[in-house]
Amino acid sequence: MKSSNKNVFASKMGAILAAAGSAVGLGNVWRFPTETGANGGAAFILIYVLFMLLLGVPIMVTEFAIGRHGGQDVSGAFEKMSGGRKGWRWMGLIPVVSGFLVLSYYAVVAGWTLYYAFEALMDGFVGKTAEQFKTDFATFSSDSLHPVFWTTLIIALTCGIVALGVQRGIERGSKIMMPLLFLFILVLVGCSLSLPKAHLGLQFLFQPDFSKVDSSVILSAMGQAFFSLSVGLGCLCTYACYFRKEVDLMKDGLSVASIDTLVALLSGLIIFPAVYSIPDLSPDAGPSLVFVTLPNVFQQVFGGMPWLAYIFSLVFYLLLVMAALTSSISMLEMSAAYFHTTFRLPRPLAAVMVSVVCVVLSIFCSWSFGDWQDVHIFGLNFFDLFDFLVAKFIMPIGGMLMCVFLGWVVDEKVLRAELTNNGTIKSPLYPIFRFIIRYFAPLCIFLIFANELGLFAF
Ligand code: PHE
Repeated sequence: MKSSNKNVFASKMGAILAAAGSAVGLGNVWRFPTETGANGGAAFILIYVLFMLLLGVPIMVTEFAIGRHGGQDVSGAFEKMSGGRKGWRWMGLIPVVSGFLVLSYYAVVAGWTLYYAFEALMDGFVGKTAEQFKTDFATFSSDSLHPVFWTTLIIALTCGIVALGVQRGIERGSKIMMPLLFLFILVLVGCSLSLPKAHLGLQFLFQPDFSKVDSSVILSAMGQAFFSLSVGLGCLCTYACYFRKEVDLMKDGLSVASIDTLVALLSGLIIFPAVYSIPDLSPDAGPSLVFVTLPNVFQQVFGGMPWLAYIFSLVFYLLLVMAALTSSISMLEMSAAYFHTTFRLPRPLAAVMVSVVCVVLSIFCSWSFGDWQDVHIFGLNFFDLFDFLVAKFIMPIGGMLMCVFLGWVVDEKVLRAELTNNGTIKSPLYPIFRFIIRYFAPLCIFLIFANELGLFAF
């Protein structure tokens, strides 16, 4: 059982790439611009970057340390790190529940991306006006069946990869895909900046207006930092179970976070300069923002050279689908690994079971944009509710619990040995890290929640 899990990410490089693959995804290219647009721009970005550094990276390293020290499934990792106290095994349930929730709505957007890749393949963007892109997206996303088909396809693909074992695919795929995606993003930034009203987008991104910052903006910035790094759910803990002993956890945590933040900021540089160049589109357009803006950029910039527009949009959407897949795999893995290790179900069966439940839940999320847009629970439709629960509730609370666990429950010697690889490497940031996980992170997250619940006012 343990050995078949070990097959997932066997090499050192594969494990790191898997963590980066989990982090870089639609959270950067789709969720970041959507949240930035909804929360007023530059001030939100500043707070988000601060949260990345002060909470995101330390919690990522916390997950790495727990997972690698445990070297088994997540529940077992908590037990081992606590010095054999079985009571801590329940922490392993956080990833199971979250895996279902997060994949169910993430797959909807990943499904849209897959459909757009298909449209790009069929030359479906040629000659369309900005207005048509808007109405086409609204018609597609509100349909009862069409988006459900693409969402199901994404979940099936994810399930196939998880069931068959991801070792080689992810390793090789990520090595080629990540730099290529980066390159395409850079070219698109150049294109977007050349659009006539680009300066308005830059203003929105870089001129902070702190009068727009309220408690919900702070919660959203924290949620975005956690979501984008995939921290707080135990997802990276699952992957870190397969890290080698030579890996420098702190250094790798910082590298993954830097890549992730850079991709998010560059995505902002593609979307916002373009938003202002499209008539009747505003930065707070919501989840459709990216899907309306991007095809427009392709057409406006490469319109004179149709073959270039065709190739560029096709490859870009395919890369985006792959980035989404490397993230959705990590989501399915969280829940499937639990059923595989705890109930000794064969890996493919565990993956299929979780996927079937996710397909059903994803239908509710997809219908939030059409038939069920008026069905609200706590004032939110299913899609928004799942997103809220994951990014603004489970991730920060999960992150806080992990910090308390590592900072207060785990023996300091064990933690130090884990971060310095048994004293073989220097870890100059260790004292800061320990201060953050013991005091700063738990207190900061607690205060943000207390403020949100009205128990306390900043
Ligand atoms: N970080 C991923 C992204 O940016 C999303 C994710 C969230 C992945 C939670 C795993 C767990 O797209």
